[in-house]
Amino acid sequence: MSALAGAVVLGIETSCDETGVGVVRLRADGHVELLADEVASSVDEHARFGGVVPEVASRAHLEAMVPTVRRAMEVAGVRPSDVDAVAVTAGPGLAGALLVGVAAAKAYATAWGVPLYGVNHLSAHVAVDTLEHGPLPGPALALLVSGGHSSLLEVADLAGPVNQLGATIDDAAGEAFDKVARLLGLPFPGGPHIDRVAREGDPDAIAFPRGLTGPHDPAYDFSFSGLKTAVARWVEAAERAGRSVPVADVAASFQEAVVDVLTAKTVRAARERGVDHLIIGGGVAANSRLRWMAEQRCADAGITLRVPRPKLCTDNGAMVAALGAHLLAAGVEQSSWDIPADPGLHVSEIVMP
Ligand code: KG4
Ligand code: ZN
Repeated sequence: MSALAGAVVLGIETSCDETGVGVVRLRADGHVELLADEVASSVDEHARFGGVVPEVASRAHLEAMVPTVRRAMEVAGVRPSDVDAVAVTAGPGLAGALLVGVAAAKAYATAWGVPLYGVNHLSAHVAVDTLEHGPLPGPALALLVSGGHSSLLEVADLAGPVNQLGATIDDAAGEAFDKVARLLGLPFPGGPHIDRVAREGDPDAIAFPRGLTGPHDPAYDFSFSGLKTAVARWVEAAERAGRSVPVADVAASFQEAVVDVLTAKTVRAARERGVDHLIIGGGVAANSRLRWMAEQRCADAGITLRVPRPKLCTDNGAMVAALGAHLLAAGVEQSSWDIPADPGLHVSEIVMP
């Protein structure tokens, strides 16, 4: 560790529509310090299509890559010769988008003569928490909720193996937020809009179903597609009856159903597995109701909750740099120079060999 104290890692994220570049420094006490977190988003270019258009995202990454790297290095106050490793999201994500980041990371690492780590986007969403709350004191449970994934993971340590206890069997939590937002006429991406609109609504106004919570259902898996359909039916019925749709109440009641299930299953898993630290990561972890309810339920159950600040929950390069720093500190071997971008990279594969 001492030889690595002060090591600087640059992280690149391009799995979806954010070109993220982060710079972190490994401190002698094991803390990873955030030096820069620059994000260029192409979200406005996708909004009118109601979802991310892969080809548009790839082109936007290509245009934003070099300026964003330059900006991040400027903000961090580091020169190329200061960088000790480059980490990049190798998957999962959109193939063309990932490819831009992986190609750029290989070029920078080669030019600067430093190791390359092709890392898992999902593990990076978990590792980013250490930038704010310091090293993990021991094994933790991680609830990962993003636009493409909803998983309950056991993590022994950030550079070590991941055990997936459960995952969504259909839509991801973020996907459900985006689809429900769309049917309520809210802009894309819908999560933040539902969060905002729901503050004016009554979470108990409509009793929407809680998926996979029956006594014989898998305890650690999630399902949100039935909930989404229930919301669609409810809205259709209201419209057919000529009633105006109470958008705030529908948003609040839908959000409550998602957050209730996520927190109940997660706390139960922590109890049953005897784990007393919980990390929540991914874009949906920015949700204010999820943060509030997780806090309440973890406090009641004696679980220490760690949720990064909202800006670190949604996609960014700092999370990739943070995971890279943990891998470097743990002495994990660098990735080979011919790693591919892997759109379907499994959650258990933290770093590509
Ligand atoms: O992790 P992320 O930025 O990208 C992926 O890896 O997918 O997550 C994006 C997802 C989107 O579905 C977005 O609607 C959702 O996170 N999201 C939210 C909030 N902020 C972002 N969902 C609910 N409440 C929020 N405040
Ligand atoms: Zn993500």
